[in-house]
Amino acid sequence: MTIERGISERFLELPGSEFARIMKTAEEDKKVISLGPGEPDFTTPKHIIQFAKKKLDQGYTHYSPPQGRLDLREAIAKKLKKDNKIDVSADEIIVTCGSQEALFLATLALVDPGEKIIVPNPGFLAYIPMVESVTGTQVSIPLSEEDGFELNPDKVEELIDNRTQVLLINTPGNPTGRMLKKKVLEELADIVTEHDLKIFSDEAYEKFVYDNNKHISIGSLNGMKEHVITFQSFSKTYAMPGWRVGYAAGPKEIIQCMTRLHLYCGLCSPTLSQLAALEALKKSQKCVRDMKKEYDRRRKLVIKRLKQIPGITCLNPEGTFYAFPNIKSFGMSSVKFADFLLKKAKVLVVPGTEFGKYGEGYIRLSYATAYEKIEEAFNRIENVIRKLK
Ligand SMILES: Cc1ncc(COP(=O)(O)O)c(C=O)c1O
Repeated sequence: MTIERGISERFLELPGSEFARIMKTAEEDKKVISLGPGEPDFTTPKHIIQFAKKKLDQGYTHYSPPQGRLDLREAIAKKLKKDNKIDVSADEIIVTCGSQEALFLATLALVDPGEKIIVPNPGFLAYIPMVESVTGTQVSIPLSEEDGFELNPDKVEELIDNRTQVLLINTPGNPTGRMLKKKVLEELADIVTEHDLKIFSDEAYEKFVYDNNKHISIGSLNGMKEHVITFQSFSKTYAMPGWRVGYAAGPKEIIQCMTRLHLYCGLCSPTLSQLAALEALKKSQKCVRDMKKEYDRRRKLVIKRLKQIPGITCLNPEGTFYAFPNIKSFGMSSVKFADFLLKKAKVLVVPGTEFGKYGEGYIRLSYATAYEKIEEAFNRIENVIRKLK
């Protein structure tokens, strides 16, 4: 019997991952410093934890409605209006087990087998498997360093045909740390309207934006309401990845379809987590500002240290907590380079190809790691690279 027997083709065709192997090696060695994390190193702010503990004592251990608690959806609607200029009611929002589940539900709701979603490549590692698991067809749009890793609207338009259903965008972007500017968003909005497509706008890192950059939600642009589903998350903003709360906002009929599907899989985001999320939105946002300040301090360190390493270049990260340096001058693949850093410098980084084939020649460094550890990681990286050159 082969291991494949009985396993669906859908599963067998999912892309493989080298990172699992690299992670395993790193876990076995206590000296390794990880610049790999895709989640905040901060613990959830204390007042949110305290509130959840109280609610647990009060017996909030039951299911919630599949669409999410009404009080939370109302608070999200307020937040979307105030922060993102997106005008939706609580009926046009679904609360899910993280924004990743929301993206999955939206794909299930809108994409038939063989229909196409255009996804940024390199992009968040769940995008391609998510489309392929519903037997949709992912069409990668290469993001290039020359375009500042922004989506090039002309290239997007060239990829559209009569099977295209959705354009997925992600700003601020994982893994590049780069953002889509207003002009690009406006051009994408025109293209989507003309071809009557939907946009999935993944804004998981909306609150971690630096310098003079501004996060703009494409759902706030004129005429976009019927075309855009916006995905946001509590995971990064409030350092709550393990609570599993995120949400999507968009046209009511689509949110209703997603709610039906949600009922059959996750059923609801954990009730306690939804209450914690409500507390996060209602109380002071100083905790978010504080985390952003610390990420920015680390980001500046990463930019400075990268500039000092011969052979590495990097576009400045504008948002998220990632940098995506170019390592092409070393003549190694991304995986080989990550292996090299792990073996020689004992520093874990993520090969760019984990985010799609157009990530070749790059590595992702996360600065969701303590400042001192980042400093030490760069001392080690610089040391081994100087010996190499
Ligand atoms: C771009 C992007 N979108 C979505 C997610 C999923 O976040 P969550 O499901 O925790 O909300 C992540 C997580 O790393 C991400 O990087």
